[in-house]
Formats: sequence, structure tokens, C-alpha cells
Amino acid sequence: MTKSEYTTLKERLNEHAYRYYVLDDPAISDIEYDQLYRQLQAMEEANPEWVSDDSPTQRVADQPMDGFQQVRHALPMLSLGNVFSREELDAFDQRIRKAAEEENIEYMAEPKLDGLAVSLRYENGRLVQAATRGDGQVGEDITANIRTLQSIPLKLRKSTAPEVVEVRGEVLMTRSGFKKYNAWALENEQKVFANPRNAAAGSLRQLDPRKTAKRPLIFYAYSVGEISNPEPQFEQHSAILDWLKPLGFPVNKMNRLVEGAEGCAEYHARINTERPNLDFDIDGVVFKVNALALQQQLGFVTKAPRWATAHKFPAEEATTRIEAIDVQVGRTGSITPVARLKPVVVGGVTVTNATLHNEDEIRRKDVRVGDKVFVRRAGDVIPEVVKVVESERPAGAEAFQMPTHCPVCETRLQKEEDQAVLRCPAGFACDAQRKEAIKHFASRKAMDVDGLGDKLVEQFVDKEMIRGPSDLYHLTVEQIAALERMAEKSAGNLVAAIEASKHTTLARFIYALGIREVGEATARTLATHLYTLENIQQQDSEALQKLPDIGEVVARKITKFFADENNQREVQALLDAGVHWPEVEIKDTAELPLQDMVIVLTGKLTEFNRDQAKARLMELGAKVSSAVSGKTDLLIAGENAGSKLAKAEKLGVEVVGEDWLSENL
Ligand code: IVH
Repeated sequence: MTKSEYTTLKERLNEHAYRYYVLDDPAISDIEYDQLYRQLQAMEEANPEWVSDDSPTQRVADQPMDGFQQVRHALPMLSLGNVFSREELDAFDQRIRKAAEEENIEYMAEPKLDGLAVSLRYENGRLVQAATRGDGQVGEDITANIRTLQSIPLKLRKSTAPEVVEVRGEVLMTRSGFKKYNAWALENEQKVFANPRNAAAGSLRQLDPRKTAKRPLIFYAYSVGEISNPEPQFEQHSAILDWLKPLGFPVNKMNRLVEGAEGCAEYHARINTERPNLDFDIDGVVFKVNALALQQQLGFVTKAPRWATAHKFPAEEATTRIEAIDVQVGRTGSITPVARLKPVVVGGVTVTNATLHNEDEIRRKDVRVGDKVFVRRAGDVIPEVVKVVESERPAGAEAFQMPTHCPVCETRLQKEEDQAVLRCPAGFACDAQRKEAIKHFASRKAMDVDGLGDKLVEQFVDKEMIRGPSDLYHLTVEQIAALERMAEKSAGNLVAAIEASKHTTLARFIYALGIREVGEATARTLATHLYTLENIQQQDSEALQKLPDIGEVVARKITKFFADENNQREVQALLDAGVHWPEVEIKDTAELPLQDMVIVLTGKLTEFNRDQAKARLMELGAKVSSAVSGKTDLLIAGENAGSKLAKAEKLGVEVVGEDWLSENL
């Protein structure tokens, strides 16, 4: 083996890592990469004098550091001004048009990445120093930690690059990585972070780079600092970004050139809708004048450029106090603790409740009434208490105790083996569970009773107008109209909607019964394989387990449900009330066109209703999953597809657009 063979292998590995981490376009499998990596390690062990610091084996230093040295930036790292409304955006654009004496300004619009700004200095192609922004003039040397980020090149990919190249950008922790990290930290009594940005900051300020290497950090380049010998003559900011890519730097794919305030406003609105689908936090968008001559003409005010501004989004996290902790009883009797919060605006809406999941979670986070907490709400997900600020705990705050009895029906609560969840075992005898069961029965994916909201169901049960789902079918217009705030007309509409729901499908009916562990997919499996209700009711647990995706636990829940006399009476009452469905067509399931294909839907569908598309795919034999994995056969990507699309591309999963649905359904 020669040194030049070693160098070739090292460069091949760097190239594959670049394709994987920067281009999201791997050319070899992880296993092949690992094999090559081990070959390189073996060569280095045999010839330690060959090892250079751009070898992929040299990313992680094996010694912790004593502290961080101070670094003076060659050019200051600036901050950005803000606009908060369309008016302020117009004023920003107006000032620039006036200075430029031009009607239409071209801007580079970029997501405002919510991480940590860093400056990476390359000399003669090698990464020699990485620094935090600090106060903009002086930052901290975090080279050893930055070297562990796989998406940052240790060596520029072009030998023709200038002698000095400083690249600036943002280090972020992925949202998925942040969740996983916090779950691990709670389990192992380590520091929990309030958000991915703090987690990224904490990771970069680790004295032990071996720890940083384990954190899922990514990097995007968005500008440059000093570039010299020779100094390239760029005319546009977009040209700088285009120049950075072939040097080996990731540049955000959502960056777009736009025109005028109108183009900026459209971009802001579009990125805001994409925000929940991303796997990293953004806190707004940034608009930068694209022409560098104009940038220069505009110059700076104190620490921020006049040629750029940030347009923020509502914050996805806030701190507030816990006023009380209540427990809620779910449809299946599960007891969920809920934090009642001092109202606080998070993600643009006022939040007053946040889930605390279960008893173990409360204990791990040690959440107490009176505590100051970080609340996070990303996208449409249920607000969550992420972390307690223990230093601000009021004196005398006591650890929360879960109740021993159901807060609604006072039955003694039980805990099932191996489960974190407490349950009220009273079932239908518990008013809370009765209400939830009826809400579920009437819900859109079940019997789809239009206009029967949660509040109405609660009134019906509280006023003892109904006890179970079947009683809905005996409600009269007069009864309903007698309720407060209920006009004759809407009462009539509701009775008609209840009547219309009688005509359904077997799969919906099974789902509507609310059997534990039986979701839409399982209900559909039961209907398509067993054809009739009688047949489903008669199966024993072993027979059920022969069906696809039905395991022991689910099978047991199904047989237990149908063995219960109360349930039998309720099912019969529903049939007697006139609930019916067309016979399930008996098909040779092996002939279904999408038999056993694992399909994931992502992004916005414009022609199809998502639920209908999903239902139809399942009818054709496909398994519709919510997450992309190695088992996924096909990803159907609608508009603005985000992290799932990226993952599918990374895993080499076939990706098609929405038109695939029109062709195949
Ligand atoms: S450019 C002269 N572009 O925002 C402009 N900054 O408030 C210098 N940031 O410290 C920054 N995404 O941490 C720029 N696409 C982006 C950005 C971005 C996030 C952060 C960066 C900077 C802060 C300024």
C-alpha cells in the first residue's frame, strides 16, 4: 500500500461524506461507507505518519479542552435590524429604492435560522479556526467542536480557492435530534434544554468534543467574512452563495431571489406555512439586497447593515407559570395530567393548557404548581411543558401527586403492568369516558355526524338525554331545540345529520366503536379480511392474529370488547336504530394493486383531500405510514414538502408528486 493510495481513499471518503451530509445524495450505502472507513483506519494505524488533519478519522479530538480561547474576528460579525409588519417592510424597501433610485429591488430572501452564528476560517484550504459570534468583535475559539460537524468541510473542495476564506453561517440542532436528546437527558438526569437553539449552544460550548460529536448539529452557510489572495470580485450576494456550494458548504435550499416588498411579503407568508414541516427551527426570514454595489452604497447603522432586515415569526416558545395541575380522563379511561397555565402567547396563539403526558413525565421533569416553565408549541402540535426553571420555584411548592381516584366518577384508579398510564377502570359507567366515547363515535373519521360538537355531546350526557352512542339516534328536534342557544333550525339540521350517519361502512363502524388499540387502519383490516360484523365478533384471538398487523395485544382487546355484555347490547342497539353499511366486496386480497406497499404522504395536496386519498390507498392494499423509514416504498410529496421529502431522498425512497394519485387511484 502506498501513500497515494491512502490519499485517494481519504478523498473518496470525504467525497462520500459530502454527498451524504451536504448534498443529501449518497452514492454508497452506510455499510459500504463503514467498510471504507475501517480500511482507512487500518492504513492509518500501520502508517501513523501519513495521518493528516483532514482525514475523516480526525474529526473528533480525544482530549477534552481546558477552556475556550478568545478570537478577534477579522471582520466584525453583524446583527440584523427587524421589521414587524407589512408597513415596516414597505418602509424598508422604500428607503432602499430611494437610495438606489430604482423602482424594483432584487432581494435574496432566506430563512432566519434559529441557531448560533459561527465564523469558519480556512487558510490554504484547511479549516484553521472556528469561532462563535460573541459580541460581534471577539468570539470564542470552538474549532475542536466545529470539526465534529460532518457537514462542515475540514478542507475546501477546490484547490483553487483563495488563501484565506472565512465562511459565516448558522449551527443548528435538528428538531428531531433535540427531542431525542431531551428524552435521553431526562432519563439520565442530565441537563434538559429549553429549545434546539440552547441545545446547539450548549453543544458547541462543550469542553469535550467527543460529546459534541454525538449531538445532531447541522450547518448552513449564509455569508462570508475575510476573503483574500486573491479577493474574488462578486457582484451579487447570490453569487457568493453559489460560490460557497462547490467549496463544500451547505447552503439552505429555501433561499430565493424575490422582487420588491411584494416578493418579500409572499416569501414571508410561504415560509411561515412551511415552518411546522421543517426539521430545524427558524424564527423568521431575512431579506438582503442582492446587488453588492448597492449594499456598499447603503452601508451600516451601528452594528447592522441598512441593506438587510429580518422579518420575524411569532415565537414558538415562552415562559409562564403553572397555576394548577388537573387530570383529564380520556376515552379509554387514561388519566392525563394537564398544566393550567397563566395565559401566554406561543406560536401566535394564546395558550392556557399544556399536556404533561403522564406521571413518569411529571416526575422526571419535576413539574410543580407555581413553577415557572418553558412552554413550546411548534406548528399545530399540542403545547408542551419542556422544562422547569428551578431557580424560580416558589418556596413551599410541593411535588405533584397523582390522584388515587377518578376525578369524574371516583372509582379507584389502576395502573396496568409495564405501563406508565393510570386508568379509570369504570369504562362506560364513568361520565368522562362516556362523553369521550360518544365524541369519538360521532367524529369525522368515524360516523361523521356533521355539527355534533364536543360541547353538545357534553350537554346531552350531563342532562341525561343520552347514555351511549345509540341514544343519539333517538334524539328529537324538540329535545335538542330545548337546549340553551339551540335554534329549531340547527336542531333540525343536527337530527338530519345524525340520521344521515346511519349509512356508513363496516370499517368506519368498527372504528367508531372505539375498541382500544383499534385505529382506522386496524378497523379497515378487520373489514376487508373478515367482511361481516358477525364474522369479526366470532373470531378468537388466535384467528385475529393471523391478519396483517394484528398482534396479541390488539387481538385481545378486540375479543374482550365483543365478549362484554354491555358492548354487545350497545352494538345491537345501534343496528336496531338502523345503522347499516353496504356489503364488503369479497376480493382476492393478493390481487389488490398496491398490496403491502408502504406509502407516506407529505406536503400539501391541492386536488385530493388527504383523508380520502389515504383511505383510498388503503383500500387498494397499501399501508399508509406517517414516517419515512427504510421500509417506505413510495413517498407522495405535495406542495412545500419538507423534512420527510429530504429523508426519503436521503434513503433513496422513490418520490412522486400528487399527480401520481390521479393516475393510480
Ligand atoms: S446574515 C449582515 N442570514 O441572525 C447580516 N443571518 O440578527 C449578518 N441569522 O447573528 C447575518 N439566519 O445568527 C444572516 N440567513 C441568515 C440568517 C442569519 C439566521 C442570524 C445570525 C445573526 C443574526 C442577526
